[in-house]
Amino acid sequence: METFNSKLPDTQESIFAVMSKKAVEFGSVNLAQGFPDFDPDPKLIDVLSYYAKQHKNQYAPMPGVQELREAIANKHLNCQSVNYCPNSEITVTAGATQAISTAISTLISKDDEVIVFEPIYDAYEPLIQLNGGKVIPITLETTEFSINWSKVADAISDKTRAILINTPHNPCGTMLTQDDLNELAKIIKGKKVYIISDEVYEHITFDKKQHLSVSTHPELKEKAFVISSFGKTLHITGWKVGYCLAPKELTAEFRKAHQFIVYSVNTPAQYAIADILQNEESYLSVGKFYQEKRDTLTAKLLGTNFKFKPAKSTYFQLIDYSHLNYDDGLSLTDFLVENKSISLIPLEPFYKISRAPKFVRICFAKNNTTLQTGISNLIDL
Ligand SMILES: Cc1ncc(COP(=O)(O)O)c(C=O)c1O
Repeated sequence: METFNSKLPDTQESIFAVMSKKAVEFGSVNLAQGFPDFDPDPKLIDVLSYYAKQHKNQYAPMPGVQELREAIANKHLNCQSVNYCPNSEITVTAGATQAISTAISTLISKDDEVIVFEPIYDAYEPLIQLNGGKVIPITLETTEFSINWSKVADAISDKTRAILINTPHNPCGTMLTQDDLNELAKIIKGKKVYIISDEVYEHITFDKKQHLSVSTHPELKEKAFVISSFGKTLHITGWKVGYCLAPKELTAEFRKAHQFIVYSVNTPAQYAIADILQNEESYLSVGKFYQEKRDTLTAKLLGTNFKFKPAKSTYFQLIDYSHLNYDDGLSLTDFLVENKSISLIPLEPFYKISRAPKFVRICFAKNNTTLQTGISNLIDL
């Protein structure tokens, strides 16, 4: 048989799928994969069923239903004080992943370089490679997981076409500051370098800290695809509805690809989300909701031997095992899932060029009983 010439020869099953499978195999509590184990607001389910019964079951318009695009524009204006035109600058996508994939396809041709930061979210590298692009990883600084902008400036070449940002950051929970945005703007000024900004955890921020979108910087806004997902904000990861904000010219190019990659996105879900967003609490309350979960988790973690700094955002908490006797995160998470009935995520798969620091990731988008049971299993380590 002829061997298949893979475009992704080094890509394996994601660590999230691997650790979730092991959780099932060993009957462990799954604090590994990043999805809620609870249902969304029942009103959202009711309106979904309402719109399905109201015959909203055929193709939506290619850029997304008007009501949802308008609701997204209002939400972004409300939270970031930045305007995007619902008609020409907002596109509804099948989750953030499709938006990231489409933005990459829009921008990246063979041998173009894309600067990414490690720990790196697993989808970025294969999506860049599928388009013939080259991944240029820069490791976040070890202790605070901040970006060293002089390393970014040094990494820019004639081939750099995009910088892929993730803020708030999975798995570190860090957020870019105004200084970061200013540095980024300075570095790309006058260059044909675009920004893809993955902001899916935009509403999950804690301790009165707010997410600062790349779109708030006027020079960055002109060159950015800003991407988010309702999966995280409304506890509906399985609905796969997200969006991309970009200036008119970039959106026009993005939609050329979007119309043939997916054409349009689940119609009743779009109407239902548009309805729910009319109440701003639907997205403004999610930070407080997850802060309570983070606090439940960290109170329980104080009774373990792990060290940690409480997450500033997202629904992930990193815990430090550098003082414990494990060679790496993979051996720790394998030990935990097989012997301690808890499945967590090691950081090694998030690193391409540097050795992963000694942290593992806990997902706290879980009901409090699941969290308490899971962490109890870490107590005597
Ligand atoms: C940083 C980041 N980007 C994108 C996604 C994917 O979002 P979606 O499910 O809307 O495609 C995730 C999901 O875990 C994520 O953590």
